[in-house]
Formats: sequence, structure tokens, C-alpha cells
Amino acid sequence: MAIKKLSIAEVKIGMYVHSLDISWFKHPFLRNSFIISSEEDLAKLQKCGATYVYVDTERGLYNFETRNQDYGRDLVSKWRLKGIDEGECAKLQDIVPRQEELKTSRKIYYQTRKILEDAYHRAAKGKPINWNEIFKVADAAVESVFRNKDAFLSLGMIKNYDAYTFYHSLNVSCLCITVGRYLFFDKEDLIALGVGALLHDIGKVRIPEKIINKLGRLTEEEFSIIKKHPEYSQEILSRCPHIRWDSVHLAYQHHERFDGSGYPLGLKGFRINQFALIAAVADVFDALTSDRPYRSAMSPAVAIAKMLEQGERDFCFSYLLKFIQCLGIYPIGTVVELDSRQIGIVTEINHLNLERPTILALYDSQYRRLKEPQVIDLASEQYQKIGISRCLDPAKIEVDIRQFLESGKV
Ligand SMILES: [Fe+2]
Repeated sequence: MAIKKLSIAEVKIGMYVHSLDISWFKHPFLRNSFIISSEEDLAKLQKCGATYVYVDTERGLYNFETRNQDYGRDLVSKWRLKGIDEGECAKLQDIVPRQEELKTSRKIYYQTRKILEDAYHRAAKGKPINWNEIFKVADAAVESVFRNKDAFLSLGMIKNYDAYTFYHSLNVSCLCITVGRYLFFDKEDLIALGVGALLHDIGKVRIPEKIINKLGRLTEEEFSIIKKHPEYSQEILSRCPHIRWDSVHLAYQHHERFDGSGYPLGLKGFRINQFALIAAVADVFDALTSDRPYRSAMSPAVAIAKMLEQGERDFCFSYLLKFIQCLGIYPIGTVVELDSRQIGIVTEINHLNLERPTILALYDSQYRRLKEPQVIDLASEQYQKIGISRCLDPAKIEVDIRQFLESGKV
């Protein structure tokens, strides 16, 4: 928490009030801590009798930073990131619009979530997994991605702190299937990729929970126990009589790194299974962009920047670039501030130009909440001089992003 003491005259709309120099009984606000989201709020504050306001500079919408936070622009120029070319994009044409497909993909997503939970419980008790159900949902997910390439992917941005393992596996699977689609894999390959991704971490059921959920740094011994989970996953997956070896290899090798520094085998380069190379990218991205007991989630743009820095050491670089092309630098559901200071949520990825997605603005340039959200297509001529200046923590805009992602409003 970073608290700054400001005189009442310096306070602006969008700032997060941590406390006032008068007691709660004497001011008209329901709580001591709140965002100033309208002119009425500001006027009330200025008349309430307080001389100083303590604002939390890490919360609220107001941008206290003066340095350049525009990771996206830096990323594009530094790594010469390009979107997909038009010919390729035409071949990936959607049959159904994303909002329509979301009705189906949302059902598949939550059904898969349930089936995954059942699979984990069974595996933990040493019981056989219901493989038919796993294959059925992977098949349904692949069908969805063929109808619309971004619907299932946008659900992959849903995070759940409490049921991290299930949502992480689901999201890695959403990401892998979508990247596979962009790589023009056939249906059978995509199902195998999806099945392996769904169960890549299932071996963790054999690791003591106190090690999995440990807040502090792991001891060497604890880390060596954690490192066994790919082997356990492999064992569990190979019990399925009709599973493809690619799916099993994905689970066994998803912690291998391109330079040979990974585990369990220390395999290098293309000796690592192709599906495992894709899963490694999705696994790291979802982990970095999720809140964990030991650190907060990174914004997607920061996570992508970090992954590009590690790029050639950890990942197959061409898969990493393909991943960025399909996800965008600002994935659907990312909260962004524009140069105009308007704040909104990314609703459509622009696969041809990664820096210029479509935004649903929820706040105007003075950080006032809009009564009617405004659609801003950054690729249109009207907005060509405006870019994205920073990504924000979704909690800051007091909007339930998960609800937006599920409803298809974004
Ligand atoms: Fe893992």
C-alpha cells in the first residue's frame, strides 16, 4: 500500500481515498475508503470539512505514474511483433460470431470444469478416470474453436484464486487448443492437445497439499518432490487405453525448457514433444497472469514481456510468437487506459494489428463512470492517434470482469 497525503484541493476524480483527517461520523460517505467516481463525490468531499485526504496510489483509477508504462508499444517495437497476415487470417474465418458461440462455449467450459474436478478426485483416490467424458469435452471444445477461434480463448482468461488448479488446467487447455487452431492442426491433433493440457498437472494429486500451497520459498527437498508431478501425470494418463502418446508426452514434458534447463529429463530443443512445447508457453502465461499465494497476478502485457525476455531460453520462440499472435498483447478482458485517459475492457483482439484491439470504454477521460459504455475500435481512422497507455488491475475499475467474459459483453 502506498499512501500519499494530499490537500483537499489536490484531490481528483479517479483517486482512491484511503482515509480522511476527520472521523467517519463527520463525513457523508458510507465508508472511509472509496473511489471518487463522479463530480458529485468530489464536491461532497470538498465540502465535508476535511483539510487533508490520504489516497492510496496503488488503487483507484488515477494514474500517479509519470514514467512510460506502455508495455505494448515497447513490446511491438522491441520484438517487431506482427499480427497474422491477411491470407492466414482469411483461412481462420469464423463461422459463428463470438458472442453467439460464447453461449455454447460457456457451457462446455463449466462442464469441463466439473469433469476435471471429478477426474482429480478419482485420481487422488487411485480410482480410474472417466476417460470418455474427458474426450467428449475436449471434442466439444475443439468444435467450438473451429466455429469461432476467440470465444473459448476469452473464457481462458477467467481466473479463480480458490480453485486455481482446475481453472489453470482449463485455461491452459483453452490456450493450447486455440494456438493449435492458429497452427492449422487437424481435429484429431487438437483433441489430443486438449486432453493432454487438461490433465497436464493431474500428478499433483500425489504431492502433499502443504507443499503445493506453501506460501514461502520451497526448500530444495520440497522442490524435488514438486518436480515429480509430471512423472505422476504421465503414469495416470498412460492408464487410458486409447490415449495418444502426444497427450502423455505433453503431461510428462510440460516443464522441459528449450535450452535443456527444465525437468524431469532436461530435454533440449525439438527433442521436446511439440505439444509439450506449446503447453509450456500456455502454462507459464496462465501462471504469471493469475494471483498466487506468494505473488499477485501480472497484467498480460507484462507477462508477455517477461516471457519474451526468457523467450529463446525457455520456449520454442516460434510457438511463443504464434501464441502472442492469437492472444494479442492485450487479451480479451484486459483492462486498459488509453492515451485519452479513457478506461475500458478489451473486447476484440485485432489479429492483424496487435496494438489496436477494440475497447469497451467504461470511464471517460476524467475517470467518471460512463452511463452508457462506449465502443472504441482502435483500428478505425477516428481513433488512429490514440493508443493504449497502460494496463490496469481489473479490481481497480470495480467491474466484475469474469461476469463480462462469461456474458460475452466483452
Ligand atoms: Fe506442472
